[in-house]
Amino acid sequence: MKKIGIYPGSFDPVTKGHIDMIERAAKLFDVLYVAVLNNNSKSPLFSFNERVKMLEEITRDIPNVKVDSFEGLLVDYADKVGACTIVRGLRAVTDFEYEISMAQTNRTLNGKIDTVFLTTSPEYAYLSSSTVREVAMYGGDFRQFVPESVARCIDSKLKEKMEARNE
Ligand code: PNS
Repeated sequence: MKKIGIYPGSFDPVTKGHIDMIERAAKLFDVLYVAVLNNNSKSPLFSFNERVKMLEEITRDIPNVKVDSFEGLLVDYADKVGACTIVRGLRAVTDFEYEISMAQTNRTLNGKIDTVFLTTSPEYAYLSSSTVREVAMYGGDFRQFVPESVARCIDSKLKEKMEARNE
């Protein structure tokens, strides 16, 4: 029986903190699905396809990682791919309330699926996608927070937004 895990998220955009989590979680499973939520009700900076592409580029050298997407309930997706473990990162106590309620909701919906938490490496404990978006939007140095390929995508996105504003 293969050990299959899921690392789900919005990844808007993927940060160095996410990559650290993916690399560490990949060591715990035979297959790790990095699952991007395809949720039309949010208005993300990057389109769903752009986020999937960024993740594919970043994870292409980790053989047991598969980038995928899901709609609807995470536990239904977990069932579909045969995973019994969801991996989430915990940065600080402020994450705990949201994460525990999500884990317990998922466990109530499907008792076969467990959530495990990995503590974020201290150097990324402050980092989030929303921080990266905000720093980038206000012209700050976002490059230190993301891999080079993602930094290039952010550059293009900012240019795109600037051009749209000037039209
Ligand atoms: O990166 P994020 O935004 O913190 O990831 C949140 C995510 C995608 C893991 C969560 O919103 C999710 O699983 N959404 C799918 C809907 C669902 O299953 N909801 C029930 C549990 S609260």
